Amino acid sequence: MGENKNYKDAWNATLYDSNHSFVSKYGNDVIELLNPIQGEKILDLGCGTGDLAKKLTDCGIDTVGIDKSERMIFQAISKYPTIPFFVQDATEMEFNHDFHAVFSNATLHWIKDPEGALSCIYKSLKPGGRFVAEFGGKGNVQSITDAVIHSMKEAGLTYRSELFPWYFPSIAEYTTLMEKAGFRVAFAHHFDRPTKLDGEDGLKNWIIMFANDFFKEVDEAAQQHVIENTVNRLKDILYSDGEWIADYKRIRVIGIK
Ligand code: BEZ
Repeated sequence: MGENKNYKDAWNATLYDSNHSFVSKYGNDVIELLNPIQGEKILDLGCGTGDLAKKLTDCGIDTVGIDKSERMIFQAISKYPTIPFFVQDATEMEFNHDFHAVFSNATLHWIKDPEGALSCIYKSLKPGGRFVAEFGGKGNVQSITDAVIHSMKEAGLTYRSELFPWYFPSIAEYTTLMEKAGFRVAFAHHFDRPTKLDGEDGLKNWIIMFANDFFKEVDEAAQQHVIENTVNRLKDILYSDGEWIADYKRIRVIGIK
């Protein structure tokens, strides 16, 4: 199992399940793209609290789930104790020709070493195996990130680009990396997917849950001030009819080994 001593597990798995369940709901479309066949052995990379791994298992798939977050894996194991879940880093996993497919939903934008992840994914597949993934692409949640950065600067805080939490590549960039890793790219799509955030505090909760890396060097009071300003700044743009809609832009890919 991979173990990164420098990694701070900031995930709150219970909040993730109660406030952000849309992540795995959208994952159902990616399962359709995966088109799993009964009896296949499939790795769910970035399985979170295990809901999509459970869906795959219910389709007769021999599923293994991995996630870098211990808290997510703890929650996944307590929800679905019969499915094998492991704490593991996608850039350090040591599977070798084990899987018919590697499936990943809403995870790869967290991995800032895409070459490392693609190389491990490639190695973990059997010859002819497929890599099917969806994650944030170039321009994803840009109005939110622009507003956070603007509000930080306005509050006199320093923003350094290393604090940007995600990797949002263009299709050209990512498919080039896939080919370099050895994949034949069979499918690639970059599309808008406006995404409803649950509740009146949807945007605020989203920022607290997912974007806290921006505030690594900021005290609690300044963080609250920046989040409040960000929410106010975006009200005219992302809020209508009582709903927050985030400007998600997704990449979907299929690579064949
Ligand atoms: C996404 O799924 O695109 C995403 C989720 C959380 C933070 C950033 C992006």
